[in-house]
Amino acid sequence: MSAPADRFDLSAHPGARAYRLLAALVVPRPIALVTTVDALGRPNAAPFSFFNVMGADPALLVLGPADRDDGTPKDTAANLIANGEAVVHLCDEPLAAAMVACAAELPPGVSELERAGLAAVPSERVRPPRIPACPVALECRVLDIRTYGRNRLVVLEALLAHVRAGLADPVSWKVRVADHAPVGRMESPDGYLRTRDRFRLPWPD
Ligand SMILES: Cc1cc2nc3c(=O)[nH]c(=O)nc-3n(C[C@H](O)[C@H](O)[C@H](O)COP(=O)(O)O)c2cc1C
Repeated sequence: MSAPADRFDLSAHPGARAYRLLAALVVPRPIALVTTVDALGRPNAAPFSFFNVMGADPALLVLGPADRDDGTPKDTAANLIANGEAVVHLCDEPLAAAMVACAAELPPGVSELERAGLAAVPSERVRPPRIPACPVALECRVLDIRTYGRNRLVVLEALLAHVRAGLADPVSWKVRVADHAPVGRMESPDGYLRTRDRFRLPWPD
């Protein structure tokens, strides 16, 4: 018989300890590079790995932009609360370093995109700009924002997907999965994962 599992009381130790454990155990996580705009229309970009797709009718994403240590919402959260629009990007390996560079805390009005060397173009349905170098960009609007203790959960509806030419069939919408390898997040602060080592299991009868 295997040794009994070690037990960690998450409800007694929420916060830093729970994060240390959960964020390294519940992996790999997809990473959203999110663009938003402030009240002056200035773009902001930041990565978030508390992120996933939650449904398809409507196309649903969730995002967890937290507060800074001083209790003020991060710029992404503040912008989503103020104007309810975002573009969610996925990044592959050539873009990973630029994605991480966007996590730097810069003064308001200083663009993470410029600093990371990422060009941006106007979106079609929302005000935040799109990063055309990313293989996937999802133009989104906010459906709901909730807080649970010190967590914030943003529910987004994806309205329009921009997908790198050739990556998805425009008629069938099937993705050429062998050509899609977004990076994933492993342990904080600097652990990442390539997604090229795949295997298949037949669907059960
Ligand atoms: C790969 C990666 C994933 C991250 N995931 C999150 C996350 O899920 N939630 C969060 O609040 N911050 C996350 N961060 C930190 C934010 O990106 C960072 O605080 C950033 O400065 C926020 O920018 P903003 O103030 O422009 O929104 C992550 C950072 C990296 C590098």
